[in-house]
Amino acid sequence: MLILGIESSCDETAAAIIEGNKKSDKVKLLSNSLASSLFLHSKTGGIIPETAAREQVKYIIPVIKEALDKANLKPKDVDAVAVTYGPGLIGSLLVGVETAKALSLAWNKPIIPTNHLIGHIYANFIEPIHNSEYVIQNSEIIEFPAIGLVVSGGHTDLVLINDHKKIKWLGGTRDDAAGECFDKCARLLGYAYPGGPKIAELADKGNANTISLPRPMIGTKDFDFSFSGLKAAFLRETEKHFPIMRNTNKKISWDEIILEKELNDDEKQTLYDLCASLQNSITEVIVRKTMKAADKYKAKSILVGGGVAANLSLKNKLQKNIENQNPGIKLFIPSTNLCTDNGAMIAAAAFFNNLEISWENINANPGLYFD
Ligand code: KG4
Ligand code: ZN
Repeated sequence: MLILGIESSCDETAAAIIEGNKKSDKVKLLSNSLASSLFLHSKTGGIIPETAAREQVKYIIPVIKEALDKANLKPKDVDAVAVTYGPGLIGSLLVGVETAKALSLAWNKPIIPTNHLIGHIYANFIEPIHNSEYVIQNSEIIEFPAIGLVVSGGHTDLVLINDHKKIKWLGGTRDDAAGECFDKCARLLGYAYPGGPKIAELADKGNANTISLPRPMIGTKDFDFSFSGLKAAFLRETEKHFPIMRNTNKKISWDEIILEKELNDDEKQTLYDLCASLQNSITEVIVRKTMKAADKYKAKSILVGGGVAANLSLKNKLQKNIENQNPGIKLFIPSTNLCTDNGAMIAAAAFFNNLEISWENINANPGLYFD
């Protein structure tokens, strides 16, 4: 079965073709195309929904055409059109959904409405590709029950996956998402959106034990998270160590000065330590709760997805905790280009959770969550 997957929930316009075979536990990726309006948002310090939607309109048809061309396919070869119908920004979502509707009608193919969050988890069900464009993913078989961890700019959720189509939400963030915490703290230091990769880069040069930051909700019995207090603590520590940050007239802001450039070598080290401590707090909380869920539900696999899944410290901590606590659990993290938003994960989720409908019956749902 050949599925065209369309993703347009935020600032990425993406389309991909996958080939699914019921006898295999993974789908094959035939093409993966993407256009991003990220460069526009980095200038404004965050995503402006109107700008993102306008860019989606510009790119959607060329990206879909490129996905078909790269896979050497014609529309008649495709069996179904999968599209993200939520959650996301309404303007961006509508572009993908309305385009999928038009294609479905014109090509006489069914639509498969797909949840973006479930899509992030299903990036792990894409077969590894052995070429330079894609980093190799874990090629082992995914066994259920599995714990799904979605960590992105907008979401931090833990789910229990008993089987395909049997996904139960366990808990999520009560305020900011993990990626949002990375982004907002990075912005405070003067770095453009998305700040996660920048914090990770600076944290590499720092010592996480020098400056202490809280690990919110790490010991609570539930599977919920909270990152807004950590962000506030990060601000307090930044102001404590860098007096320039306390001077409101001179306050460093993302579009004026990058704090790092104002510092001598010793001060720079403090900045790196602060970033290392932030990364450590975020990843420790996520890992502790994920392992707790895996333990409680006797998970055989852990499937991570979303932009923050690209964070190496998170991967290393998960790996280490699995080795120490339960070496039988298999860890799956997509290659970096499949951690962030893409069309392939939407097509993969559609293949395994297949719910084909007619074009008249799909509507964008920005507030969609796990059912
Ligand atoms: O999944 P994604 O592309 O978009 C959403 O659905 O939100 O995730 C984007 C998020 C941003 O917050 C970005 O800072 C974060 O993923 N991110 C990272 C890393 N790479 C991307 N956070 C920490 N470490 C990274 N290496
Ligand atoms: Zn996403």
